[in-house]
Amino acid sequence: MNINGHTEICGLIGNPVKHTLSPLIHNTLSELCGKNLVYVPFQVENGKLQDAIRGADALNLLGLNVTVPYKSDVIAELKDIDGLAKNIGAVNTLVRVEGGYKGYNTDMTGLYRAMQSDGIEIEGKDIVILGAGGAARAVAFLCISKGAERIYLLNRTYEKAAAITKEIREKTGQDRIVPMLLADYEKLSGKDYIVIQATSVGLSPNCEDVVISDENFYKKIKWGYDLIYKPSQTRFMKLVEENGGRAFNGLKMLLYQGIIAYELWNDVSISQEQAQTVYDALKEACYEQ
Ligand code: ATR
Repeated sequence: MNINGHTEICGLIGNPVKHTLSPLIHNTLSELCGKNLVYVPFQVENGKLQDAIRGADALNLLGLNVTVPYKSDVIAELKDIDGLAKNIGAVNTLVRVEGGYKGYNTDMTGLYRAMQSDGIEIEGKDIVILGAGGAARAVAFLCISKGAERIYLLNRTYEKAAAITKEIREKTGQDRIVPMLLADYEKLSGKDYIVIQATSVGLSPNCEDVVISDENFYKKIKWGYDLIYKPSQTRFMKLVEENGGRAFNGLKMLLYQGIIAYELWNDVSISQEQAQTVYDALKEACYEQ
């Protein structure tokens, strides 16, 4: 790496940031693209978010990623915001524009691109989302915006699923989303569902946990997508596969949220081959220590 007067800087703001895989994604991309750009983590303490964004602007940083706990709070500091990110109410990528930054949600466009790369299309499909936290809420907005036929939002606490449904109906005018109690999964009468597991249940080290363990539920699933990437195969994924479906973890979503951010910052297009190289590096860092 040759750092000189032309080197551009991108980074991640959040707290904590020490566990992040984003520097690996972006610095590998810069190597592959021959860009003079470095990506570094910035730990931002509670109460310092506004200073951090103003500082980044003053220092002419090319772009930033934003992680927990600032994905919603950062919106107040932006010059502009992309439509999907605005609806979701969460931003993970800031792109330099005249006088500040524009916010995007590449977590969700990343999930979409990951699904497409696995041959899964949301448009016209019946989708089941497990969970009604921040992640599930974002997935529900994505599925609506990409033309899902019907979305069933299943949650242990019904009120949260109902609140998201109400909000989506108000914001988008779409009524193709149905809130359900998690325990009522037997009422799903269709088949060949795409199921997106958007709770934290099953996350390492609680690898044997799963929100629904009944095999009858899994028989209805054609594609199961777990947002968790550690362990590489969750119990949810195992149950999907044992019952004839195809299952994917969240590592490709992580990959593509980074790739889309990198493309926005640099006005480049990352090839399939380059994406694969970064994906291999991510897998090694994640699973082969
Ligand atoms: P995130 O922002 O990452 O989505 P979150 O907002 O804390 O995280 O949401 C966690 C989700 O996991 C919620 O849908 C939660 O269900 P409740 O709304 O009923 O709390 C779900 N969840 C967590 N533990 C669960 C469990 N043991 N069984 C079922 N759902 C669970």
